[in-house]
Amino acid sequence: MDCFIHALPKCEHHVHLEGTLSPAHRLLCAQRNNIALPNNISSLSVLEKELYPADYDYEEGQDGSDYLREFLANYYGAMEVLITPEDFRGMAAEYIERARKMNVRYAEVFFDPQAHTSRGVPLETVMQGLLQAREDEKKLHEGKPDYVRIEYILCFLRDMSADSAIETWKAAVNGGYLKDIIGVGLDSDEDGHPPQKFDEVFEAARKAGLKITAHCDVDQPGCHANIAYVATKLGGPRNHDGPTELFLTPKYDAGADRIDHGLNCADNPELLELIKKSNLGLTLCPMGYSKHLGPESVFRKLELIKQTGIPFCLNSDDPAYMCRYKEKVVIDVQGKTGWTMEEIAACEINAIHMSWTKDLEFKKDF
Ligand code: HPA
Ligand code: ZN
Repeated sequence: MDCFIHALPKCEHHVHLEGTLSPAHRLLCAQRNNIALPNNISSLSVLEKELYPADYDYEEGQDGSDYLREFLANYYGAMEVLITPEDFRGMAAEYIERARKMNVRYAEVFFDPQAHTSRGVPLETVMQGLLQAREDEKKLHEGKPDYVRIEYILCFLRDMSADSAIETWKAAVNGGYLKDIIGVGLDSDEDGHPPQKFDEVFEAARKAGLKITAHCDVDQPGCHANIAYVATKLGGPRNHDGPTELFLTPKYDAGADRIDHGLNCADNPELLELIKKSNLGLTLCPMGYSKHLGPESVFRKLELIKQTGIPFCLNSDDPAYMCRYKEKVVIDVQGKTGWTMEEIAACEINAIHMSWTKDLEFKKDF
């Protein structure tokens, strides 16, 4: 089974680029930029041991929002070493290299510009690095069987202001970067920051022809209402473009094009019905919450969603912290569920249908 999962061509639609910042790259950037790591750590093994606890999990039963806050504090803290385009390029290049080794053939990757602009690192620096890594991959591998196609999704941080999101959007427009991203997303701390707060910026993104998605994290306060809003309202009227027969096309005329996480819809039959009717896919990351929510609860919800026929795919989220890149996520989900090869392959077929690219060439690899 592990060999089958390894060889299976895979897609990933829920991975935060900054969540792939490895201890090794973090140390390299810190040294290059003369930045002291916490506790003046200067050795890789100590860094791994102290700042990347095995399996980024907290005690079972811990409240979900605390878990997310604690994780986010570490996640944003680690980014202080990312200063130059080369730092961002190296981070993206490392993810692409790992993707290649796992037979991930296509990924739509989130990045968080405000986590950098708020530290004084301009959007141009971030974009230069990300785009260069993608260009390097194209130059060296396009046309070969191991080519990894990458699209970028610009995320707004929901615990920053709506004005800050608009400012970020304008910087992306003025920098000419809309052509370089496929969509926009919404991440960070959901508690007290519902998607409605960002209506204006999501409507602007939709009008500009971008796809939209939003995190509806697991067990966050208000998550059911947020899932319903994202599914039916976020972004306003949708563009009907692209080869609808090949890709998953949400049925209602308004609302996001996908939902990130959204596992909690399993607790609410009306919500399940709504998502099914909307024809929306969920980008789930079951291993990311398996320990702190308890595997029983997570896999019960996952099976329930699967039974409804709602499309979902399996993803890593923040693999450098959660100790599992895509291939290991699929292996571990299979281990927990006992799904057959056909059932595992069906998740990857869902992922293809949930893709946003208009580049049909990539489907040849599957
Ligand atoms: N949830 C919310 N925001 C995030 C996450 C996540 O899992 N990872 C990075 N930003
Ligand atoms: Zn996420």
